[in-house]
Amino acid sequence: MALQEANADNENIVWHPHAVTREDREQQHGHKGTVLWFTGLSGSGKSTVAGALEQALHALGVTTYLLDGDNVRHGLCRDLGFSDDDRRENIRRVGEVAKLMVDAGLVVLTAFISPHRAEREMVRDLLDDGQFIEVFVDTPLAICELRDPKGLYKKARAGELKNFTGIDSEYQPPQAPDVHLDGEQLVTHLVPQLLDVLRHHAIINP
Ligand code: ADX
Repeated sequence: MALQEANADNENIVWHPHAVTREDREQQHGHKGTVLWFTGLSGSGKSTVAGALEQALHALGVTTYLLDGDNVRHGLCRDLGFSDDDRRENIRRVGEVAKLMVDAGLVVLTAFISPHRAEREMVRDLLDDGQFIEVFVDTPLAICELRDPKGLYKKARAGELKNFTGIDSEYQPPQAPDVHLDGEQLVTHLVPQLLDVLRHHAIINP
């Protein structure tokens, strides 16, 4: 039995409610905790847009954290590869970390391909209503391949990299994302759109 199931089933492990609540922490921050979940192909611009948004939020005094696929795979998820099972576990762990950070009252930005609808929905289900905002960075495969910032599409096309998303591994685009971004637009156009979404959802103040 996987460790996670073992603990989930263990009646000797009881949730301990602590005195300082998420609401207390949110009040101290002056904004709500939430996750902006960026999904899209490798090279679509997820990390770039999320990074630029984080800079803008930081300048507004919002407490943020950016969880980025390439970085998380150097630590928390360094034992995982790119099979469907490993990607699922990658997203599960990131979802749990994001949930803790939302509980800490942070505006969490995540940049993971997260190619499967089921896993993205799993993370949505971990959180309360309104705490998960799915952002689809919609950039055509041909453009991502042209950008190829890490040379990985070239390797995948040459058969040197297996299970590469968009080439020989599936990407399931969101059917009804909360935010649908045109990934070919300039970041300077996309950031204000995202700030408006956060204001509209009353996550940050006008
Ligand atoms: S996910 O599918 O599990 O969500 P994640 O976002 O963590 O993926 O990691 C994707 C990054 O890993 C890509 O941007 C790319 O730099 C790198 N990478 C290495 N191998 C692969 C692969 N086979 N498929 C997709 N990305 C890969």
